[in-house]
Amino acid sequence: MASKKRVPVIAGNWKMFKNRDEALAFVFAVNDNMPKRKEVETVICAPAIHLSALVKRQGDNLRIGAQNMHFKDSGAFTGEISPLMLVDAGVSYCVIGHSERRQYFNETDETVNLKVKAAIAHDIIPILCVGESLSIREKGTTNRFVKKQILKAYEGIELEDALKVIVAYEPIWAIGTGVTATKEQANETIKGIRRVLAKLYQRVNANKMRILYGGSVNTNNIKELLGESDIDGALIGGASLKSDDFLKLVDAARK
Ligand code: PGA
Repeated sequence: MASKKRVPVIAGNWKMFKNRDEALAFVFAVNDNMPKRKEVETVICAPAIHLSALVKRQGDNLRIGAQNMHFKDSGAFTGEISPLMLVDAGVSYCVIGHSERRQYFNETDETVNLKVKAAIAHDIIPILCVGESLSIREKGTTNRFVKKQILKAYEGIELEDALKVIVAYEPIWAIGTGVTATKEQANETIKGIRRVLAKLYQRVNANKMRILYGGSVNTNNIKELLGESDIDGALIGGASLKSDDFLKLVDAARK
């Protein structure tokens, strides 16, 4: 970790879990133990209905993120939440293009690109998810597949804005399965993503961009994943639901 200049990010993705009381209790339990944001950026991406309440209780070093947003500011889109509404609620991060949204809610590389642009336009930091299915991994075409996702996601995005994006490499076969990518697999694919970003924005800039790993990260495996040269943090589902575990995950990222 010490050799990496990039500030690590530990982001919890609660998915569709926790009622309001549980969500608030979690934030109260972790607030005082969050490191300074220059040391580790910590984010909890909570269900939309809890966002306002959580933002009001977030400590100085914790940020609250959304799990999805629409790309339009407003409109006749029943059930959707706009970036303006997130900003209004004080939300500063948003997961974009999570594989569950791509799989169950028909998100495409095109809508992901629109959402990344909309997030940046509203000063919301996008946590852009990419990652391959098991059949793609087995075919040996992971790098090609992820490259295509990255190229489309960054289409029309200038360097200054690209530097704000956080990428989360999440192989679909590792999400919620208990099967983590090995640290070598994760690091190799993330290096490949950084190469694509270097082609788009030059190596010196790609070296400043944060790329996380996600997929069955837990308190036992986080340290070795973060020890890899190119893994700048983690997007964590199941293991981020308990405050004690979240504190351990964050501690693992301290320098
Ligand atoms: P998991 O989920 O940690 O439960 O595998 C990760 C994610 O979906 O972001």
